[in-house]
Amino acid sequence: MITLIINIKELIQIRDASILKVSGSEMAVLPTIKNAFLIIEDDLIADFGMMKNLPTINADKRIDATGKMILPTWCDSHTHLVYAGNREQEFVDRINGLTYEEIANRGGGILNSAKKLNETSEEDLYDQSKTRLEEIMHLGTGAVEIKSGYGLTIDGELKMLRVIQKLSQNYPITIKATFLGAHAIPAAFATNRKGYIDCIITEMLPEIAKNNLADFIDVFCETGYFTVEETEQIMEAGIRFGLKPKIHVNQFNSIGGIQAGIKHKALSVDHLEIMKPEDIEALKNTETMPVALPSCSYFLSIPYTPAREIIAAGLPLTLATDYNPGSTPSGNMNFVVSTACIKMKMTPDEAINAATINGAYAMGISNSHGSITIGKKANFSITKPISSYYQLPYAFGSNLIESVFLEGKILT
Ligand code: NIG
Ligand code: FE
Repeated sequence: MITLIINIKELIQIRDASILKVSGSEMAVLPTIKNAFLIIEDDLIADFGMMKNLPTINADKRIDATGKMILPTWCDSHTHLVYAGNREQEFVDRINGLTYEEIANRGGGILNSAKKLNETSEEDLYDQSKTRLEEIMHLGTGAVEIKSGYGLTIDGELKMLRVIQKLSQNYPITIKATFLGAHAIPAAFATNRKGYIDCIITEMLPEIAKNNLADFIDVFCETGYFTVEETEQIMEAGIRFGLKPKIHVNQFNSIGGIQAGIKHKALSVDHLEIMKPEDIEALKNTETMPVALPSCSYFLSIPYTPAREIIAAGLPLTLATDYNPGSTPSGNMNFVVSTACIKMKMTPDEAINAATINGAYAMGISNSHGSITIGKKANFSITKPISSYYQLPYAFGSNLIESVFLEGKILT
């Protein structure tokens, strides 16, 4: 099946296959072709170029994209989109003056979601989650990482990971699964945190690895959650089971999580709202991707990740949603890109790089996703007619994505 798209006003994020991420000043460059064509063969990108060089081909389907732009679908490398119910009451409690920390300390927060999840059947959890997955696909996301971490029991964690696996089997979006048993200490282990960590390492991990249910291991390394030492212990156990670390660090406090992640060759360190100079220094000359989650900062009214300092240090940066019921009940990558420009002073070019090729890197899939590259997955969005790609972040809150192609097929 060959699809030919012609008269593309601008084809955005064209890259050579050798580029797996962009760092520092490279992030300001977003390569494009104006007045372009794109050829899709089955689920892959077969060719692209300037209209004046369009080869003669026998296409099964032709699309005229006059006035519209094409960009790779968003790569959202950090979500918790499998969850049960919602936390709307906590949202109102925060409006009325409680902090996220105060809510967590009185048994709300992650433990509230864990209670709901353990009371929800696997079928119901799948149905609730698929609605969110379908929504983000239509908003232009073509690859997504989804974490467990609202089970906090063997049954609950396995249930979440099976739901993630089923979503991956049933939808054309690429899904990577992360085991986040170390998201919080569950109520049943409130006075025995060592017992819970032993349960993660000796009971949950072997079962997850045996059933091939996760690609990555995550830990919420934060004051009041897991210490740096515990984080290291859990990462080491994950690595023994073949799971690369991708960890939550520096959301509220800088306690050494970044350095621990780097020591264990974490694929990414995520959140980074609170960064000391030594945290930025530690990331230099490593393969670990820093990931910012601006809609979490927006929703919780906490500081934004210092993108300008990170990029000025020559580092790469990824943008992701953090879609979850407590700190970010939104999976809209268009909003993330816009917020990064408005609040973190990233340029549109930097933000689009951060949300595509670098996001793919942060999921270990930038050899197949994240750019318009011959041989990569035909995952791309066609915009509505727009004046320039600056309009994507500029017109915040508008949906400028007209249609989405995943694995070469248009989403209906
Ligand atoms: O990334 N910080 C840890 N985990 C999530 C929030 C979890 C929750 O509040 O349910 C986050 O923000
Ligand atoms: Fe998160």
